[in-house]
Amino acid sequence: MHNLCRSYGTKWRRNITARIIDGKTISAKVRAEVSEGVRTFKGAEGRAPGLVAVLVGNDAASHTYVRNKEKSCIEVGMTTEVCRMPASTTQDELTTVVQAYNSDPRFDGILVQLPLPRHMNAAMVTRFINPLKDVDGLHPENMGLLLAGEARFVPATPLGVQRLLREDGIRVEGARVVICGRSNIVGKPLAALLMQRGEGANATVTVCHTGTRDLAVETRRADILIAATGNPRSITADMVRPGAVVIDVGISRIEDLTTKSGFRLAGDVDYGPVSEIASAITPVPGGVGPMTIAMLLDNVLRAAQLATSR
Ligand SMILES: NC(=O)c1ccc[n+]([C@@H]2O[C@H](COP(=O)([O-])OP(=O)(O)OC[C@H]3O[C@@H](n4cnc5c(N)ncnc54)[C@H](OP(=O)(O)O)[C@@H]3O)[C@@H](O)[C@H]2O)c1
Repeated sequence: MHNLCRSYGTKWRRNITARIIDGKTISAKVRAEVSEGVRTFKGAEGRAPGLVAVLVGNDAASHTYVRNKEKSCIEVGMTTEVCRMPASTTQDELTTVVQAYNSDPRFDGILVQLPLPRHMNAAMVTRFINPLKDVDGLHPENMGLLLAGEARFVPATPLGVQRLLREDGIRVEGARVVICGRSNIVGKPLAALLMQRGEGANATVTVCHTGTRDLAVETRRADILIAATGNPRSITADMVRPGAVVIDVGISRIEDLTTKSGFRLAGDVDYGPVSEIASAITPVPGGVGPMTIAMLLDNVLRAAQLATSR
């Protein structure tokens, strides 16, 4: 497993044993399915499914994420709009805008891009989104339905992780899954999703966080280890059971003066050494990231289908 091999001319490299779970290819498949669904929906309803993104403030990463979502909507044939509001917007002004979109028939999905400026309470704002248009799955009604095993909208990243596992043929049923991170957008909904009775789930799930006494003891028990803490390269090889499947949700910018931008993206997993131990692993970028937008598009299509079936 740890033998050295000669590759790429004269350089000596370690053998990489883990299969790479290719999020780009799998997300392209999901997008193609969504495009097809959009075509069918348009044919039947005479309109495209629509997503509006509300973006408050100047956070550079949020602007990039929203641009990518907008572009992706257009690519699959959806109607899309971005409502950009200044950082000085009050919470009341924001909730008024959200409520206006609740009754706008052009949009089946509404997302309020997080994080919001500090003077706002994101959880409170989320409660103003019509739960039937809450394609981010963050409204308490949707979180509750997920926990109850009657999911309506599940946050896109957990859905993307589940789909990656399924498409790669990794058996979740009966597996010991350890999730590092308990945020409302990743860790908690992912735990709720994978612990449900049913296909692609039925796992025994452990959720770790900063209160976990010995993280490595927990992570070494995992058949499927999912890292979502935002601490770059913090999951090291000694924390991984040989043969485990490793899913890296983390995306952090780390300084890299060899690149033009001066930074590069890193996951939570120490990729090189861990890929010599794991049986399968997601890269960063190119793993979970592309799945998130693809599953968001899928949620928007489902919201549109739900709206017409009511
Ligand atoms: N690929 C994608 O599309 C995608 C989507 C969403 C997020 N992300 C990335 O995923 C990462 C997590 O995002 P998030 O929104 O869930 O972050 P978050 O809200 O900051 O939550 C991080 C979670 O990790 C836990 N944690 C932090 N340090 C830890 C440690 N040393 N040991 C154990 N647990 C620890 C925290 O525990 P406490 O609760 O105790 O504080 C918290 O529950 C970030 O890098 C983010 O950029 C990627």
